[in-house]
Amino acid sequence: MANNTLTVTDNRTGTSYTLPIEHGTIRTMDLRQIKTGPEDFGLMGYDPAFTNTASCRSSVTYIDGDRGILRYRGYPIEVLAEHCSFLEVAYLLVWGELPTQAQMNDWVYQITHHTMVHETVKKLLEGFRYNAHPMGMFVSTVAALSTLYPEAKHVEDAEIRKHQMFRLIGKVPTIAAYCYRHSKGYPYVYPDNDLSYTGNFMNMLWRMMEPKYVANPVLERALDILFILHADHEQNCSANAMRSVGSALTDPYLTTAAAASALAGPLHGGANEAVLRMLDEIGSKQNVPAYIKRIKEGHSKLMGFGHRVYKNYDPRAKIIKWTAERVFEATGRNTKLDIALELERIALEDEYFVKRKLYPNVDFYSGIIYQAMGFLPEMFTVMFAIPRTAGWLAQWNEMLTDPEQKIARPRQVYTGEQERAFVPLEKRGAVATAR
Ligand code: ACO
Repeated sequence: MANNTLTVTDNRTGTSYTLPIEHGTIRTMDLRQIKTGPEDFGLMGYDPAFTNTASCRSSVTYIDGDRGILRYRGYPIEVLAEHCSFLEVAYLLVWGELPTQAQMNDWVYQITHHTMVHETVKKLLEGFRYNAHPMGMFVSTVAALSTLYPEAKHVEDAEIRKHQMFRLIGKVPTIAAYCYRHSKGYPYVYPDNDLSYTGNFMNMLWRMMEPKYVANPVLERALDILFILHADHEQNCSANAMRSVGSALTDPYLTTAAAASALAGPLHGGANEAVLRMLDEIGSKQNVPAYIKRIKEGHSKLMGFGHRVYKNYDPRAKIIKWTAERVFEATGRNTKLDIALELERIALEDEYFVKRKLYPNVDFYSGIIYQAMGFLPEMFTVMFAIPRTAGWLAQWNEMLTDPEQKIARPRQVYTGEQERAFVPLEKRGAVATAR
């Protein structure tokens, strides 16, 4: 018998089965042959929240959560954060290799020349109330791009896919900036093709009457690093949404909007905003022990702590801390930092957090930096969605070109009623009482 197999015995029947093991996994479809009789559907795997199920083969991002390793296409995140620009990393994620100079020039040209959005987008944004959450506006506007590019539905065409990727990576900063300007009541600022990806984003956010916006180079680079750190994270909740929705061959605008919707939740990308709200609630360093006590009593979670995959430390959190110091040299120290450091210090010593392997994740410090740079907390998750669009598209493109993938359609364990006799409306009160 080959070594790379698993033998299981079904104690209901006494039958043994040998299943192949590949890449440390068995195919759950191989369980289907395990039956108690011809009428039996066959064994399935039950894995709520996919805690131990691989849904795809992927060569985009590698994480070793126990050792705190994160690599995009084989390159350690620390190396990419130190040496690359965000657009270089976006190219790497989408196309699998770091670009040559010529490829990079073309990529930057294409992205830069797809930053403008149709004028109707401004009208669409006008429809939102002044206090609409930017993430809701962002999701809706990305979805609305679907109406402007009907050819995008031909997702099986590689050239069409490529074009939509230029558009999406190019336009998400513009949409994000327009959402911000709308909530402030400021006029929209058109993209400036002379500027870098992040420099242009800052221009569209913050330019007022000056003829040419010049970003602080320290902040521009810090934002670029933060974008690199947020660009992909393998099969997280939003990437899974991207793949799942995209598997129906939905166009990439609607699919990206679905992924961004998943990101908006406070347990995922929305955590960065929640961290800031939590730090506001704590108020000062002295209140940290009482807050930790409340968390241990189960009243709430320590936002920005814990991760499904990282059980040692989140390597992105380390780089973010380093970046925070550079940013604070330029902006002055965010007073929230002291509360965050105290929370981290106490939590890392506390048995509750140690036992559960809860460490600061990428969102614990990112909000503090963003706030110091001048971003409003409502914008934090939108800031996350901009670079993550590159990762979503890399995952989407990989899914669509994977011959093993089909429409994503999980099974369920049905726990409801078996067939019941229908009771007419006028007689139901009695039935309900009886139950
Ligand atoms: N604060 C307090 N306790 C926590 C926290 C936290 N932040 N995170 C997990 N726990 C506890 C759980 O209550 C549970 O305790 P129990 O064993 O006594 O029941 C245990 O640790 C295991 O946690 P799970 O919720 O089972 O872990 P899971 O992998 O499902 O969740 C998640 C991971 C969602 C990130 C969780 O840690 C969390 O809610 N963190 C706070 C929100 C957050 O920061 N999200 C951002 C994640 S990074 C990202 O998406 C970009």
